Amino acid sequence: MNILLTGGTGYIGSHTAVLLADAGHTVVLFDNFCNSNKTVSARINQITGHDIPCVEGDVRDTKLLVKTLHEFQIDAVIHFAGLKAVGESVREPLKYFDNNVAGSISLLEAMQKASVKTIVFSSSATVYGKPQYLPLDEAHPLNPINPYGRTKLQVEEILQDLVKSDPSWRVALLRYFNPVGAHDSGLIGEDPNGIPNNLMPYVMQVASGKLPHLNIFGNDYDTKDGTGERDYIHVMDLAQGHLAALNYLQDHLGCEIFNLGTGIPVSVLELVGTYEKVIGKKIPSQIASRREGDLAVCYADTSKANHTLNWYALKDVHDMCTSGIRWQTFRSSLEGSRE
Ligand code: NAD
Ligand code: WQD
Repeated sequence: MNILLTGGTGYIGSHTAVLLADAGHTVVLFDNFCNSNKTVSARINQITGHDIPCVEGDVRDTKLLVKTLHEFQIDAVIHFAGLKAVGESVREPLKYFDNNVAGSISLLEAMQKASVKTIVFSSSATVYGKPQYLPLDEAHPLNPINPYGRTKLQVEEILQDLVKSDPSWRVALLRYFNPVGAHDSGLIGEDPNGIPNNLMPYVMQVASGKLPHLNIFGNDYDTKDGTGERDYIHVMDLAQGHLAALNYLQDHLGCEIFNLGTGIPVSVLELVGTYEKVIGKKIPSQIASRREGDLAVCYADTSKANHTLNWYALKDVHDMCTSGIRWQTFRSSLEGSRE
């Protein structure tokens, strides 16, 4: 299939691009580089041995999207393009609703014009809000507690209404939990601008000496060791989930929702401890106060994706840490060469 990846030079998009190309699909990237850069495209080509086209553009540019869909005879779209920082979404909600919701509407209008009606959407477990039960299954009530999560839920609802209005659409909504890790080559990985919000990239920058220490946001939660527990999923397992969803949509009309996680809650101390074992040294850290809006525990019931997509997360926390270290080592060398 010819597949357009919006946000394709971002963290998850770049890893999915590699996997899809390796699986024999023709991939086209579409990105405005607001949270990535063009060099990622070259490294995707280096890994895959393919010359994957990368169109620079904003998903709010409907005309450019129509042109791109026609030019590359796109069969399906995976929609990764979006802003994802919870804190920033609280400070700048209009920026998030414009980019994530208006951007998605623009993409869907372009797809309608070009008669491309297969889409996989990057949603988030954030749509669930505070868990009423665990593990979270797809039937859990939806109550996002920040503007970012609300943008994701609104796009989910738009897609569901679109399918009701035109049953010829094929839609998969993938609710990611906590993606971490990197491609085994170490050439691509999570590359946040500025100081990372998320745990894993922050730990990697402490390990590399770029940041002095890790602040552990609370150790008084009702969890196995008092620190927050999350469902960390290796980004390559996540990429496989997208391939499985695309294959499913070949035979199924309508809209389906899938949780993509491991189903295994891992605490901050467990993740940091694994990382320390892999690198053979301690990560300087101190207990800090809880971060506003943080959940104590969040992890997935993945049985629907397991049974319906025949998809399973296969990589463990050790794999996530070792692959992340390879990427961080390469990333540090890149920064060294830039100085
Ligand atoms: P990322 O920021 O690395 O990638 C997003 C990409 O989209 C970037 O390359 C960015 O330049 C591009 N982009 C953003 N707005 C755009 C626009 N208007 N037009 C064109 N390109 C645009 O983020 P990621 O971690 O790869 O996440 C990909 C998707 O998955 C996002 O929609 C995010 O909300 C969602 N998601 C991420 C996580 C996570 O923890 N990483 C969890 C759940 C869901
Ligand atoms: C994980 C754990 C923190 C940083 C976020 C978004 C969510 C999704 C995934 C987009 C928590 C603790 C963290 C640090 C710490 N993104 N922590 N010190 O908050 O589960 O989810 O990323 O969809 O929308 O909310 O991930 O990595 O920020 O935190 O102690 O410096 O690590 O308290 O328990 P989170 P995270």
